[in-house]
Amino acid sequence: MEELTMQKLVAYCKNRGFVFPGSEIYGGLANTWDYGPLGVELKNNIKRAWWDYFVTKDENSYGVDCAILMNPRVWEASGHVASFSDPKMDCKNCKTRHRADTLIEDYNTKHGIEMAVDLMSKDEMSNYIKEHNIKCPNCGKCDFTEIKNFNLMFQTKRGVTEDNSDVIYLRPETCQGEYVNFLNVQRTMRAKIPFGIGQIGKSFRNEITPGNFIFRTIEFEQMEYQLFCKEGQDEKIFDEYKHKVMKFYHTLGLPEEKLRFKDHDKLAFYAKAATDIVFHYPFGWEELNGIHNRTNYDLTQHQKYSGKNMLYTDPVTGEKFIPYIVEFSVGADRLFLTLIANAYTEETLDDGETRVVLKILPRLAPIKVAVLPLQKNLSEKAHEVFKGLQKDFVCDYDESGSIGKRYRRHDEIGTPLCVTIDFDTLEDNTVTVRDRDTMKQDRIKIENLKSYITSKIFGDN
Ligand code: GAP
Repeated sequence: MEELTMQKLVAYCKNRGFVFPGSEIYGGLANTWDYGPLGVELKNNIKRAWWDYFVTKDENSYGVDCAILMNPRVWEASGHVASFSDPKMDCKNCKTRHRADTLIEDYNTKHGIEMAVDLMSKDEMSNYIKEHNIKCPNCGKCDFTEIKNFNLMFQTKRGVTEDNSDVIYLRPETCQGEYVNFLNVQRTMRAKIPFGIGQIGKSFRNEITPGNFIFRTIEFEQMEYQLFCKEGQDEKIFDEYKHKVMKFYHTLGLPEEKLRFKDHDKLAFYAKAATDIVFHYPFGWEELNGIHNRTNYDLTQHQKYSGKNMLYTDPVTGEKFIPYIVEFSVGADRLFLTLIANAYTEETLDDGETRVVLKILPRLAPIKVAVLPLQKNLSEKAHEVFKGLQKDFVCDYDESGSIGKRYRRHDEIGTPLCVTIDFDTLEDNTVTVRDRDTMKQDRIKIENLKSYITSKIFGDN
């Protein structure tokens, strides 16, 4: 198969009902996307897989679902008001806005230069851009304004007065809800350290150079998990979870050779360690997931700004301390892109035709089973089988076009199994089940279909 381009992937996602451009009939709104009927199923399955793996199947884990709008003091305590910013500059010629660090990184990647751009000051970035004549990607001129820091939080106002004291923010990350509820969860669940809190929810960032489809958007969903532990346990937990998180991606079918750890060159002043899991996307190696040892900074800050005690009391020793936090975090949309880019396959068949197959892990597939009557006059029996399967699986009923075309249609959207009803079905109550990946067919009794499908779809668990 030729290398997958983003252009092809975006067109595929749009044409097959996975992801549509946001507000399309109004000309769109840059870097917003809407999930279609298949996209929402796939995304829900991804979120469910994450939640099951890290929250429900771990006895020391608890879930929360916190408000997007939080008291603005939260964002002062977290440091976002003062310093959640990117270095931006405008092209004086075409007036487009750019991130200085991204332009340098793109230039360096193209020229095979390895450099820690995140360690550079604004002046160093400015000089580097001039010295290397790095051009505006839009108009090709190298004539930029001074680099300024641009805060990424979206602001809005509550109430009726236009007063600055009413400013509130759309959360730029979900984890602060987990921090401010740390003691609520600990007390109500009688949780003992070390324990974790997971959350899935929307975050918003006024990204300057969003792009690459759903890789970086201004509105996205995060799946974030915070492990609360005692100082001294943190390094071991960081190491354990690094590997647990990597293993999770392998269980979703992402191959080892397309995933790597990448340690941060520059740590936040409070952080002890930070590693990304990076994936090989069609546009290069980029961050999929962050893992951070945040020390006791977050809870210490919330204690300071809220005036409320954030101490944990050890039930055995009675010792009181502010817990350390090890965090891992991934965007649900980014993981969606990762999985779909990895699964999209074009195969050349013996007859020279191309078969597009979405080789997604069966339990993540948007539609699990398609029910296909061989001919329209078998539709009564086929409907009966369809209704039976619908109770347990997300199914599609499809009787339009030749059986070959229908198989291809379902291969393309990743349906793992196609159940075909033919004339023998009327005689012996058996059906043919075709496997998406091998294209092999089994003859199965209708009464055994549910267990057959269950083991094929969820047998990897
Ligand atoms: N609480 C820590 C935190 O938010 P981050 O590295 O800024 O850390 C974590 O974000 C993850 O969220 C990233 O690894 C990425 O998967 C996802 N993410 C961040 N910004 C995003 C954006 N603009 N669009 C889509 N996903 C994003």
